[in-house]
Amino acid sequence: MVKAEAKERILKLRKLIDKYRYDYHVLNKLEISEAAFDSLKHELKKLEDEFPELITSDSPTQRVAGKPLKEFKKIRHSFPMLSLEDVFSEKEFSEWAVRIKKLSPGADFEFYSELKFDGLALSLVYENGGLQYAATRGDGNIGEDVTQNVRTMESVPLSIAEKRRVEVRGEAIITNKNFEAINKEQKKKGLKEYANSRNLAAGSLRQLDPKIIASRKLDFFAYDILGPDFENHSEEHKTLAKLGFKIGGANELICKNLEEVFKHHKKIANTREKIPYTIDGLVVSVNSNKLFQRLGVVGKTPRGAIAYKFAARESSTVVENIIVQVGRTGALTPVAILRPVQIGGVTVSRATLHNEDEIKRLGLKIGDSVIVGRAGDVIPDIIKVLPELRTGGEKNFHMPRICPVCGKPVKKMLEGGVGVYCLNQKCPARHREWMYHFVSRKAFNIDGLGPKILNAFLDFGLIQDIPDIFELKEGDIAPLERFGEKSAENLVKSINNAKKITLARFIYGLGILHIGEETAIDLAEHYRSLEKIESADFDELNNIPNIGEVVAKSLYDWFRDEHNKNLIKKLLRYVEIENPKKRASGKFTGKTFVLTGELESMSRDEAKARIRELGGDSSETVSKNTDYVVAGANPGSKFARAQKLGVKIMDEKEFLKMIK
Ligand code: IVH
Repeated sequence: MVKAEAKERILKLRKLIDKYRYDYHVLNKLEISEAAFDSLKHELKKLEDEFPELITSDSPTQRVAGKPLKEFKKIRHSFPMLSLEDVFSEKEFSEWAVRIKKLSPGADFEFYSELKFDGLALSLVYENGGLQYAATRGDGNIGEDVTQNVRTMESVPLSIAEKRRVEVRGEAIITNKNFEAINKEQKKKGLKEYANSRNLAAGSLRQLDPKIIASRKLDFFAYDILGPDFENHSEEHKTLAKLGFKIGGANELICKNLEEVFKHHKKIANTREKIPYTIDGLVVSVNSNKLFQRLGVVGKTPRGAIAYKFAARESSTVVENIIVQVGRTGALTPVAILRPVQIGGVTVSRATLHNEDEIKRLGLKIGDSVIVGRAGDVIPDIIKVLPELRTGGEKNFHMPRICPVCGKPVKKMLEGGVGVYCLNQKCPARHREWMYHFVSRKAFNIDGLGPKILNAFLDFGLIQDIPDIFELKEGDIAPLERFGEKSAENLVKSINNAKKITLARFIYGLGILHIGEETAIDLAEHYRSLEKIESADFDELNNIPNIGEVVAKSLYDWFRDEHNKNLIKKLLRYVEIENPKKRASGKFTGKTFVLTGELESMSRDEAKARIRELGGDSSETVSKNTDYVVAGANPGSKFARAQKLGVKIMDEKEFLKMIK
């Protein structure tokens, strides 16, 4: 970015950040997530790092947190209470490591990795083994004397077995359980609820009446001890534990290299939900205190430690373009091409926009800054447009009237609906997408035959349509680039294996509009033969449980189309369909399950199969008809919906017990 552009962006970012700051801290209501808010601040910081001459004293990056309140006595810290620079990805972390290694060549870089508690920093000073005073961080140099309040906190020892003067630094937090209980109480009293446990901890410590704080049950975790000399940071933690302070315990680790830090970070990020209080990342420091000293301080942050935050689940970025994809059913889908960002630990560069109405609803233009998240923690989606950051160069998007691939006119389908379709059955884009679907894992599951290889086969004219695949011989494939005799042989083997297929997979593989995996299973189990499905009339299809009018019509029409009839005829020359036996009834008969989040002991497909074996059904959407929601790690929006509808939610352990 050139300086003029950076300047314009910086000014707009500052204004927007300030608006959100006011919403958050003054009005106590933030309309975007904290992660998205942080990502805006992060972008501003990066731009200011790149163009330091553009930094002004009123920038949000220069803000000094928490001026001491008048009511409390002020205390000057013996050493400034510093803050930490944030990084969000392995890349940014590595850049930090490279930077400090350059500053101290040849030094032994061992790291200490600990939890970053999301609370309020406190400094506790002990003399002669007794707690003398406790102070908040304040502006880093001068804090507030909150000794009276801190004395009510049970996890703060009032006396310790160390006679020398020591200063213990750590974080005051409120556990999730206490936070919920306090908010419940607030609600009952008709009082405002707290936005998060950090605000509550901070608010509680600033209460002038120590009785209030005692009722809030604050916790304290220690992370630093100043005074006596220690060689390593890890020894400080050992000593703190010995003196009776709570520390991160089993969640802390000495790491020999970056890989070990990354592994630890991943492990904690994945088990984060199980930790009973809020953490927002790891603090990673060089373990050697000598090295830490030598690396020094820049501004208010030490070079030798860094906050390695968890990947934001939401982030801001820019929509660089909107393209239109043609799917296997002919559906035209607008897709946002994003400036790549890290969300939830992966780089995201595209987000589906579903349809034109969604673009209107968002008010999105090409070139807009947006907030992107991952729906259910998986699929990238645009949550919000930030019109405040517009430059004037943004462009409106219009859905094309002709198919962007075959050029034939497109049509709006489903009365009053929003779907736009290319109806040309021979549209090359539709046909290719349909072929990808046919060979995919949940359909014919032809191992080794993904979109790339299918493209190569099509481009070389080896095949024109799906049935041609079943005629391929090793000698046809082997000459292709990146193939050899062995891999050609393997591919032919997996094509042959796919010739035997269950009825449900066969139906799903046909790629009929609205027929997903679950519907295909329902159809297969209901009819138990392809001929019966082919000949079923509309009313009959419409009467099958779980099948509605739209699906029934789609099915009925599909099997009446000459082109499709021909396809089935050709396929049956190669393929042998296994019809399902009548489903045994079991303890789940009549029960519908929805799975969300990652299971540890099995894949989702395995879990679904087990539910079916026991007579149950599984579905992708939570509704009144759902009997159980099984929630694994990092559950998505289905979890919240289940809570709202009062559907029974169970964790993996409970589920395993049930399917035993
Ligand atoms: S070490 C040099 N360790 O994060 C700063 N800080 O942005 C020394 N925090 O103000 C901080 N958990 O309140 C350290 N395990 C931990 C921490 C931690 C939370 C907070 C602390 C500090 C802020 C740094």
